[in-house]
Amino acid sequence: MMPGAGRAVEDLLAEVAQLKEHDLPVRGGQVTAYVYDTGRPEVNDAATRAYLEMLEVNCLDPTAFPSVVMMERQVVGAVADLLGGGHGIFTSGGTESIMLAVKAARDLAGRARPNLVLPVTAHPAFHKAAHYLGVEVVAVPVDLETYEVRARDVERAMDEDTILVVASAPSYPQGVIDPIEEIGAVVAGVPFHVDACVGGWLLPWLREAGAAIPPFDLSVPGVTSISCDLHKFGYAPKGASVVLFADPAMRRKAYFASAAWPGYTVINATVQSSRSAGPLGGAWATLQALGREGYLELGRATLAATALLREGIAAIPGLRVLGEPAASLVAFAGDGIDVFVLADEARARGWFLQPQLSYAGIPANLHITVTGVTLSGVEAMLKVIAESARAARERGPAVLPGGLVELVAGLDLEALDDATFADLAASVGVDLRPGSGQPEMAVVNAVLDALPVAVREAVLVRFLSVIYGT
Ligand SMILES: Cc1ncc(COP(=O)(O)O)c(C=O)c1O
Repeated sequence: MMPGAGRAVEDLLAEVAQLKEHDLPVRGGQVTAYVYDTGRPEVNDAATRAYLEMLEVNCLDPTAFPSVVMMERQVVGAVADLLGGGHGIFTSGGTESIMLAVKAARDLAGRARPNLVLPVTAHPAFHKAAHYLGVEVVAVPVDLETYEVRARDVERAMDEDTILVVASAPSYPQGVIDPIEEIGAVVAGVPFHVDACVGGWLLPWLREAGAAIPPFDLSVPGVTSISCDLHKFGYAPKGASVVLFADPAMRRKAYFASAAWPGYTVINATVQSSRSAGPLGGAWATLQALGREGYLELGRATLAATALLREGIAAIPGLRVLGEPAASLVAFAGDGIDVFVLADEARARGWFLQPQLSYAGIPANLHITVTGVTLSGVEAMLKVIAESARAARERGPAVLPGGLVELVAGLDLEALDDATFADLAASVGVDLRPGSGQPEMAVVNAVLDALPVAVREAVLVRFLSVIYGT
């Protein structure tokens, strides 16, 4: 792997381009998840240049690099101004913001057997935080018409060991906003985190553009913390999120200090210790390059595209939008159409629609995150969805090899070696060797969909270990 002699930069960049050959495109709006595109190259340019300018600055020691403190105060301040005040931390993403919110709540409560109460639609980052931090998860079902959690169900699920209640604004899967004010009214002093990783830097602009957005931020009584990802609808390069705490004492519980060794003193606001200031520079520059007017315009475009998309999908025979998406995340299920087959058909036409497995009474569906760039291509997107729906209806549902699901469900995945797992994947047409290209995912998704959640997770872990190899 390592060359004997160092290589020239052009040579390296050519190889990078080659390695990226099979990646989904990050711009242009044909990938409806993972990436957020303003459609404005000058904004990307500003972000990239500021990112590179800050790349080698280390956030580890703010006394050595005061630019970090000044930039972070500005970025966090902008988020606080938009979301009802509070005291914040710039983090690497939604997961880290959530990790810190759960840590702060756990350390504040000091319970022996802490639990956190969340809707089944909450992002897995909470399960991850709970897993890492030794907190139990109490999951509350959502209303299967609206996909929102009910405040009374949340209240019922809480007990004296509940250290945190969670709700989403909006939830990722169906893009609906949980009833934040109603939940705030029942938490009775227990910390309440609003996951606005998606909506924090989106809902205020949609509201200003005319959408009916209920109060959801730190100004709502009962809400004690909120997360807002700038690398989503802030359109900043990846590695940018903010968590805000209403009470500075709670923010201090998110911090970590250690003087218990003979080296430099450690004081971290985040999970990471040494950390590039590149993402902070990128986020700062993106906010500055777009300004309020830029975000408002993007909000208007996003709203218009979402309305067209919702109407368009509802008009396609066999498809239905799930719930009443409040923001710009739209999920649709199929009646008589296998949506996983539809996704493969769309992929073959150059569009990525994100499959979501059935869970907790919610049917399998496809997810689309509408961003600033979507409006210019929404008619093309609808045409592809309609064509793909027709093709999927004609093809019929994915056919699984007989007995496969039972076989996988009965496997001891811990005992299986990687080669046997790779053979098993090959039997459903999935070649896990590097560079082998894109398999038909409908069968894979159908298998996963038919498995119990714990087996799905075990299969996914094994998949990762096989693709990364040694
Ligand atoms: C609602 C919500 N919360 C949290 C996250 C986690 O964010 P990240 O991937 O930045 O860690 C996501 C990601 O999609 C999300 O949609």
